[in-house]
Amino acid sequence: MLIGKNIQLRALDRDDLDDLHRWWNDPELWSHMGSRRRLSGKEEIDAWLDAELDKTSTQEGKTLAIVDPDGELLGTIWYGTYDAADRQTLVGLYLGESDQRGRGHGQDALSTLLDYLFNDLGLHKARLMVLATNALAIACYERCGFKTEGTLRDHRFFAGRFHDFLGMAVIAPEWRKAAK
Ligand SMILES: CC(C)(COP(=O)(O)OP(=O)(O)OC[C@H]1O[C@@H](n2cnc3c(N)ncnc32)[C@H](O)[C@@H]1OP(=O)(O)O)[C@@H](O)C(=O)NCCC(=O)NCCS
Repeated sequence: MLIGKNIQLRALDRDDLDDLHRWWNDPELWSHMGSRRRLSGKEEIDAWLDAELDKTSTQEGKTLAIVDPDGELLGTIWYGTYDAADRQTLVGLYLGESDQRGRGHGQDALSTLLDYLFNDLGLHKARLMVLATNALAIACYERCGFKTEGTLRDHRFFAGRFHDFLGMAVIAPEWRKAAK
């Protein structure tokens, strides 16, 4: 369990399946994520949960549940595989319900994850890709110390057209300096 200011990050469990199923199939949520997500059945998500719960090494990456102080599931946050040389990983997150967004939970969850990645796992860099029009997410990432490293023009095709993405990243020394 990782403790943030107003949220906690915990391991996923089977009771999360219904919420995950709803969110994985929510077009409003996926329109912000910038991917061509196809509809996912409960069996598929269950198999994904199995694989997630079977992971034994931190180097395999992990998806964690974002929960409020009452234990209510708000969304998920993840980091990807990394190697011992580069010590960099891809991160991502979402809050499932739109009325939970813009209230600081994303910043809280991401800062809590970065603290774990940089201070506990000893990673050096966290990076992500975000739809260039996703102003709320970009503001959240900037609050967490992420800087734009470049624009990936016409990077993905969905909803009938190409979309630009931003590559953003934060490195541990800068993050520690900003956190002081
Ligand atoms: C992206 C996401 C995780 C961010 O979490 P969040 O809790 O909504 O963001 P936060 O409230 O922590 O931070 C957003 C900041 O942007 C500000 N903001 C609010 N609305 C905004 C808007 N329309 N445009 C720009 N900034 C905005 C907030 O005030 C806040 O800044 P502050 O801390 O100085 O007040 C969440 O919005 C989400 O799940 N969105 C849908 C899925 C998604 O886009 N995932 C990311 C894919 S890359």
